[in-house]
Amino acid sequence: MSPDINRRWILAKHIGGRIETSDFRWVESPVPNLENGQMLVRNLWLSMDPTQVLFANGDGGELSIPLGAAMQCTAAGRVVESRLPGFQTGDLVQGWSGWEDFTVSNGRRGRAEDPAVQKVPGDTSLNLALGTYGATGMAAYFGVVDVGRPKEGEVFVVDSAAGGVGSVAGQIARILGCRVIGITSGQERRDWLLHELRFDGAIDRGTENVEERLDALCPDGIDIFFFNSGVGPVLDAALARIRRFGRVVLCGVTSFYLAKESPPGPKNLVPLIMKRARMEGVLHWEYADRFGEARERIGSWIRSDQLKSPEDVIVGLERAPEALARVFAGANRGKQLVKIADS
Ligand SMILES: NC(=O)c1ccc[n+]([C@@H]2O[C@H](COP(=O)([O-])OP(=O)(O)OC[C@H]3O[C@@H](n4cnc5c(N)ncnc54)[C@H](OP(=O)(O)O)[C@@H]3O)[C@@H](O)[C@H]2O)c1
Repeated sequence: MSPDINRRWILAKHIGGRIETSDFRWVESPVPNLENGQMLVRNLWLSMDPTQVLFANGDGGELSIPLGAAMQCTAAGRVVESRLPGFQTGDLVQGWSGWEDFTVSNGRRGRAEDPAVQKVPGDTSLNLALGTYGATGMAAYFGVVDVGRPKEGEVFVVDSAAGGVGSVAGQIARILGCRVIGITSGQERRDWLLHELRFDGAIDRGTENVEERLDALCPDGIDIFFFNSGVGPVLDAALARIRRFGRVVLCGVTSFYLAKESPPGPKNLVPLIMKRARMEGVLHWEYADRFGEARERIGSWIRSDQLKSPEDVIVGLERAPEALARVFAGANRGKQLVKIADS
């Protein structure tokens, strides 16, 4: 590939009920020239996040992606040229970017207050910076530690458990002394949660009755439910088993993102009252001033082999649409990434 050419995926149309390669168009154009206040980043890794669909479909507010613009995502790479104070050629960075080889960045996201591009320390791999040290790990860490507030011996249930956030959240809860049950789809992913991530129990929502399995695995109820999927019946099942002073951590609503109409909501809210339980959202960037604390603890768990940082890597920018589709097909094991190049 000539370094003068920028290969990119352009958003061709709004995404329907499922992700198709034809939603995007492959274009090759010259690498843009820089103006003052900009830097050129060679993207090496792309993060595939369910919310990218919201941005692509015009539901992302000021972060919405116009048709004809490069599909956007968080990415990590290397600065190849800089006319932006604070960044130099060779810096490793991660931040708001695009499905493309090269991104011109002014260091910010859509809104002026978002410091969207950050340097990645030399001892951190770029894939880890996007995954367990990035939004995925921060949502998992603060969702469990600050919102879930686990106590030794409590029962912790997480859905989308084989995904990026869920796989890390479940492991952190286990490290902090909880009995951890994961809900996922597919028998292989269920077995992976049990044998590879050492969950205490796992449920395949595709072939098993979630309510019956929760009864079997959590006979005394659930203390903490970490909710990623937004699926109303799954929340209802967890609420039916919530214990006194239980906590529901609302992290995501993945099932909403591709749905044409809002899916049915939960019906089973009375247990929140009767059990005096609490349901609270987690928003990772609200904790930006404590990312250092989270990364330090997560790093020590990884080094002591208590925490795995599972990644599902698709190689090649050409395959970015396929990688995003995997997230909605429930095919990914851990954080879904696209590796574009080594350097
Ligand atoms: N609050 C925050 O700060 C924050 C930060 C990052 C991410 N999030 C949110 O956290 C959630 C997980 O994010 P992630 O990046 O780790 O994604 P992910 O869990 O790796 O991937 C999505 C998973 O969701 C499940 N899924 C996909 N489509 C579904 C559908 N229609 N209905 C039910 N389940 C479906 C699948 O798991 P199974 O097939 O195993 O069920 C799939 O593996 C997302 O909702 C995301 O927006 C929140």
